[in-house]
Amino acid sequence: MPKITYILPDGLETVLDAEPGTSVMRTAVSHGVPGIVAECGGNAMCATCHVYVETEAAEGLPAVSDVEDEMLDCTASERCANSRLSCQLHVSEDITVRLPETQV
Ligand code: FES
Repeated sequence: MPKITYILPDGLETVLDAEPGTSVMRTAVSHGVPGIVAECGGNAMCATCHVYVETEAAEGLPAVSDVEDEMLDCTASERCANSRLSCQLHVSEDITVRLPETQV
């Protein structure tokens, strides 16, 4: 079962087991991880599930779609090269993500 490590803005880490194929967003929301708002429920339409992918295996992740790319321009915190919408990250391997200071 893949593990997702969430690094909160204050540096605290939460590690969760994820059902294979579940999104980083869905796993966080269902376990009460703070800092992921996910207003649109995972439809890549709100950009409030923004995370920074810290794992070096980021190349193995699905490519950023045109819709995700557009929404990443709307994040409340700075967009970086490792920015992703966590609702679009369906995990099959361990991954570490850092949460931004704010989502709104
Ligand atoms: S939950 Fe809305 S864009 Fe990811």
